[in-house]
Amino acid sequence: MKIIQNPHEIQKDLITLKKAGKKIGLIPTMGNLHRGHLSLFKLAQTHCDVLVGSIFVNPMQFGANEDLDKYPRTLNDDIKKLESINVDYLFTPTNDIIYPLGTNVNTSIEVNRLTERLCGETRPEHFRGVATVVNILFNILRPDVVVFGKKDYQQYMILNAMVKDLFMPIEIIAGEIIREENGLAMSSRNKFLSIEEKQKAAELRKTILATAAQIESGKRNYGSLQQEAIQRLQNKGFKVDYFEICNALDLEKATDTDSQILIACAAWMGQPRLLDNLEVEL
Ligand code: PAJ
Repeated sequence: MKIIQNPHEIQKDLITLKKAGKKIGLIPTMGNLHRGHLSLFKLAQTHCDVLVGSIFVNPMQFGANEDLDKYPRTLNDDIKKLESINVDYLFTPTNDIIYPLGTNVNTSIEVNRLTERLCGETRPEHFRGVATVVNILFNILRPDVVVFGKKDYQQYMILNAMVKDLFMPIEIIAGEIIREENGLAMSSRNKFLSIEEKQKAAELRKTILATAAQIESGKRNYGSLQQEAIQRLQNKGFKVDYFEICNALDLEKATDTDSQILIACAAWMGQPRLLDNLEVEL
């Protein structure tokens, strides 16, 4: 695997490969890689000739009181994991490379509507940071195909919309959520859970599954199903940010005639804020 920090150097290599007819696949990450990330690389491998990963803990997507400084940085381990699955290139830019003027940038990317609900309500600047950095990575690396995980379903929808709206010649693929044995969605933030908290955190998935079962059995009183789920999570020790039954196509509140539903939840268990979701087809 070639590990490159300089954007011009990696761009030159990738453009040469593209000119030779190679299809470039990209997985953008913030590192501290786990099986969830690696599954995206493996999925991309079946859609491209040259596989590129990026590791950049993007300061622009963290709010002032969020965990930027504490975000786990494990580059040496990450490199070993990527080498073991035959990734071709790893791009590891610094803050100065991506944001030469700091994060108070001249140009940013703002995706509307989809960014306003769910995580956008408590993290108002977050998705501007995500869309901006992903756009910068796309411009440097010029991928043909990119895989995002459904663990961050709203993020995937937003970046998919950005690519469509701006006519970017990029295919976006969504990878399934990879879970721990107890059902908890894998996340770099799970390491901040104590053993006891990790056991309790499994309730997030269970509550989403129980809500899905109610919807599948014909219940359409989404407001009360949400309230029930929030109560159940609070009883288990979660502080719930949101538990929403949405239309999976636009993330608006689901109506009783919608057939593609997304149940999405963000909740704190101790220090980390955990995300999970489930698509339900009616
Ligand atoms: P990060 O949290 O490192 O995640 C990188 C990619 O891995 C995202 O597409 C995310 O959805 C996916 N992912 C994380 N956990 C997963 C799991 N358990 N199963 C499947 N996929 C999983 O998301 C980001 O970084 C950043 O916002 C980024 C897009 C890199 C922009 O900075």
